[in-house]
Amino acid sequence: MADTPHQEAWSSRLGVILAVAGSAVGLGNFLRFPGLAAQYGGGAFMIAYFAALLLIGIPIGWVEWSLGREGGRQGYHSTAGIFHALLKKPWARYLGVIGFFTPVVIYMYYVYVEAWCLGYAVNALLGTLSVGGKNFGDFFAQFTGAGQDGVALRFSLRDVGIFVLIVYVLNFYFIYRGISKGIEKVCTYAMPALIFIAIIILIRVMTLGTPDPAKPDQNVLTGLGYLWNPGDVAKGLKNPELWLAAAGQIFFSLSVGFGVIITYASYLKSQDDVVLSGLTASAANEFCEVGLGGLITVPAAFMFLGTAGIVGQGTFALGFNVLPEVFVRMPAGHLFASIFFILLFLAAITSSLSMLQPGIAFLEEGLGIGRKASVALLGFVTGIGTLFVWYFSKDLKAMDTMDFWVGTLMLFVQATILVVIFGWGIGVERGWALMHEGAEMRVPNFYKFVLKYITPTFLIGVFVMWVLKNVAGWNFSFATPEFKPSGYVEDLIGQHPSWVARLTVAFIVIVTGFALLLINIAGKRWETNPPRPRNSPTP
Ligand code: ALA
Repeated sequence: MADTPHQEAWSSRLGVILAVAGSAVGLGNFLRFPGLAAQYGGGAFMIAYFAALLLIGIPIGWVEWSLGREGGRQGYHSTAGIFHALLKKPWARYLGVIGFFTPVVIYMYYVYVEAWCLGYAVNALLGTLSVGGKNFGDFFAQFTGAGQDGVALRFSLRDVGIFVLIVYVLNFYFIYRGISKGIEKVCTYAMPALIFIAIIILIRVMTLGTPDPAKPDQNVLTGLGYLWNPGDVAKGLKNPELWLAAAGQIFFSLSVGFGVIITYASYLKSQDDVVLSGLTASAANEFCEVGLGGLITVPAAFMFLGTAGIVGQGTFALGFNVLPEVFVRMPAGHLFASIFFILLFLAAITSSLSMLQPGIAFLEEGLGIGRKASVALLGFVTGIGTLFVWYFSKDLKAMDTMDFWVGTLMLFVQATILVVIFGWGIGVERGWALMHEGAEMRVPNFYKFVLKYITPTFLIGVFVMWVLKNVAGWNFSFATPEFKPSGYVEDLIGQHPSWVARLTVAFIVIVTGFALLLINIAGKRWETNPPRPRNSPTP
């Protein structure tokens, strides 16, 4: 039996840390991070990355943990409910709309990639990961539907269909089981397993030496150097795009601004620590990202394929086109490829589960419906979205459009709302006191200043740059400024619009409208019949 919302709680401190780390550690760590670090030249990227980690990632994480636990004490678990409880203003709950639709929409396409991981693991093991034994790109285009709309809606082991169904059943089964019996259980097993597998792959990659004696320049050290040599740091840091990429990666990777951590933290007990737990979960993510993810993908691709194997490859191509080519050249490559994709799958499922919980929490507490109904309703809504991405798969257009407008833009907006509520809405003094209740370590005092002034300024600065670059298309030149709207904007209002991109944005708008309607209904309910605070006796 699933627990009722009032009974839901993490069963242990380690459990919640593993769950938050599980949400954070995902495809971003093993595919997105290495790709970006290589693209922006190692050293300079890492400086911007660590600045973003210290100034936005960790502090906003603490904000989410603190606001979430406080919301949970008052009986709320969704961002809309928590804002309603904390700010006590009729409009406050509407600010929480992003915390509902962002994880839900990201789930719609993230789970599709999760299905690729599972499908690739199976096909790698069976030795069927290619067309004619060598063409991995063709396999990818067919399997994912990147070649043509509609072609991926097929069901065989060499098509994504079966795997989409399997990952849907798994995700919704565990979400139905609830916080401690579902999410926490999965993360308790999946996280150690994932780290163990990553270490095996890492050892394999680090012991490859010089795989092709005819190419002595492509060895472990040059592979590592390709990613980690500092390069021209001063020049790199002057590039605004590098700062945008680093900040965006921090959000995506830590699951900050998704509306996930705030919901997870609402299931803490009243006096559970949030400061050390938040820091530990972030540290676990950084270990997996920098210490494991950063040492596997790019060095491996470089050792076998040289620069040509890496430059210009997008995140997905690097993971799904390039790496199979690398594995096929290794002894026992099938096996290593298969466990690599299992690693990706485990990383992905612990993240996708976290994207469902905010939706479930909202439906249950906002509409007063039970677990079965909330799972069915969310399954239906996300199912439509995934079907959309799955059908409109040519060039992964629908997915890419959702990832831009929701998976990137909305994270900035949501994070800004959170930090402004913390620093200015409830006030940094009260926020600071909330954060330190039950805390097992003190946050250095200067973080008060950081949270009130630096984080919002940094965030808004990066956000404005992001809009100038990605929406207005500024070339960041004062001498010869040019504004050429980016492809995402051109897709919508340019001379040759993309109907798929337009439909996708229309779909996002409909989901947002639906979410606002539900928040309106929920608000009436919360005013007349507020949830019981945590730990109050069951009537
Ligand atoms: N934080 C998750 C990832 O890195 C979403 O993939």
